[in-house]
Amino acid sequence: MTPQNSDTRSLMYLHTFGVAVKAKNIIPVFRQKNLTENKHLLEGNFLVLGQGSNVLFVNDFAGNVFVNKLKGKTILAENENEVLLKVASGENWHRLVRFCVQKKWGGIENLALIPGTAGAAPVQNIGAYGTEVADVLEFVEAVDIASGEKIIWQKKDLGLGYRQSNFKTIWKNRYFITAIGIKLYKNAEIQPNYPMVRETMEKMFPQQKHDLTHVFEAVCAIRSAKLPDVKKWGNAGSFFKNPVISLADAHTLQANFPQMPHFSVENGVKIPAAWLIEQCGWKNKATDKVGVYPNQALIIVNKGGATGAEIWDFAQQIIASVQENFGVGLEPEVQIVF
Ligand code: EPU
Repeated sequence: MTPQNSDTRSLMYLHTFGVAVKAKNIIPVFRQKNLTENKHLLEGNFLVLGQGSNVLFVNDFAGNVFVNKLKGKTILAENENEVLLKVASGENWHRLVRFCVQKKWGGIENLALIPGTAGAAPVQNIGAYGTEVADVLEFVEAVDIASGEKIIWQKKDLGLGYRQSNFKTIWKNRYFITAIGIKLYKNAEIQPNYPMVRETMEKMFPQQKHDLTHVFEAVCAIRSAKLPDVKKWGNAGSFFKNPVISLADAHTLQANFPQMPHFSVENGVKIPAAWLIEQCGWKNKATDKVGVYPNQALIIVNKGGATGAEIWDFAQQIIASVQENFGVGLEPEVQIVF
């Protein structure tokens, strides 16, 4: 059962960090017209929440919060190889992944158990185990909040990158995403290229011909073991992005820290933030309310009763310590709302 709060302005149960903050008004959006008929509430400061799984409220929010409840899935096109599926933005992402796996449609099985809604998926281009939503995304439908006009963007126009899209930058707070279109593959070859997924799958289902369900189950097992359950400890998944540094800086760091894991990417070298944080001694570090999750150093947890300001203060201490020890600037991956 979802916990209820009698305070109709409380955001506590509407985001996964579980901080006791309030908004001016909270407006559920079941249909597009709930947006247009409440246009006056969109003036000034406002925020759209899906399942609130990637946000930290540092203070009470001095504006209105719209909660996305748009539901529905429609097949737009289908042939013997592919399915083009339109998904309403308020659909739960993990349930969508499970639905596609059950239908034997491949493409998003590696993205199982990522918290949040379908509509939030392109905002930060969610990704895990070598797949990102950009790999299957075809289009995004949205309403321009100022004009009420409906807009459809093709993938190439969304500015998608690592945990990045135009919705986080130049289009911030301008649009309400109403649906996404994804292309999935029938009879897809199973290619769990990510070693950890492959190894887990082989261990869980030895000597079997692997199918999508096996990939899905392996990803669920890995994530359940490594990521904290929000019902127990409030959190928003990875708190920081993995930093990308220049090749020259990477060489200097490697000379001092030869064991540092690193991955070549298009614009430099990606260093796992979890490793940097762990090396600075933060793993297992906690106050009585806030801490680093012992199984994954990239995750900050609310152990109960922490304020947003306390969590943000803890995060800033981590940033300062990584900067001091490695000269690398960490950036939050979570949306920080002041
Ligand atoms: N590592 C440590 N200490 C730790 C955990 C990891 O040193 O406590 C190092 C290890 O070297 C490990 C490397 O970090 O090999 C990478 O760790 P992991 O595979 O767990 O992935 P990550 O880079 O920490 C990213 C995503 C996760 C996603 C995983 C799996 C980001 C910011 N995070 O984490 O996404 O689940 O890869 O693909 O890119 C999220 O965005 O909320 C999220 C959980």
